[in-house]
Amino acid sequence: MPKADKLYLVGFMGAGKTTLARALAARVGWKMVDVDEWIEQRERRTIADIFRERGEPYFRALEREAVRALLPERHAVVATGGGTFADPDNRAALLSDGTVVWVDVPFSAIVERVPSDGRRPLAADRAAFEALYLARCAAYRNAHIRLDGTLGPAADLVERLLDRLGW
Ligand code: S3P
Repeated sequence: MPKADKLYLVGFMGAGKTTLARALAARVGWKMVDVDEWIEQRERRTIADIFRERGEPYFRALEREAVRALLPERHAVVATGGGTFADPDNRAALLSDGTVVWVDVPFSAIVERVPSDGRRPLAADRAAFEALYLARCAAYRNAHIRLDGTLGPAADLVERLLDRLGW
């Protein structure tokens, strides 16, 4: 059984994981941790720069390192990156460390929310972006809980999720 003192939010880019994690953490009085922020602070450069200067495999190695480093955190809401839960080792680690919530948002809404401005390197090519979305959904389905991310602003989603968790 996953531990009840930690929540992981997984889902595609633009699903609202970071915003929801922040609202959730404030609501339950836990800390909020963001995998992308952990990586950017550790590297002292942006995700876009890491992809450009070192490539995606280097970024994925950092992402796995972030997951391991954050395992001891308790009473935490962790916002993951869109690819974090797609990695089988990360997936197994998250599923056994906490309750994993998939923030599910349809691709049509994702496209409106995520500009192809280079801030998210994998969103630049729109056809590849959609293929990635479909492939990723297969991984996200392994989450403990699926939360429809279109059902209102973050404050409403927080209450829905707390209901689902029976908190
Ligand atoms: C990625 C998602 C991004 C970030 C990086 C790679 C992905 O996080 O980790 O650009 O592979 O889906 P967000 O989901 O927070 O945008």
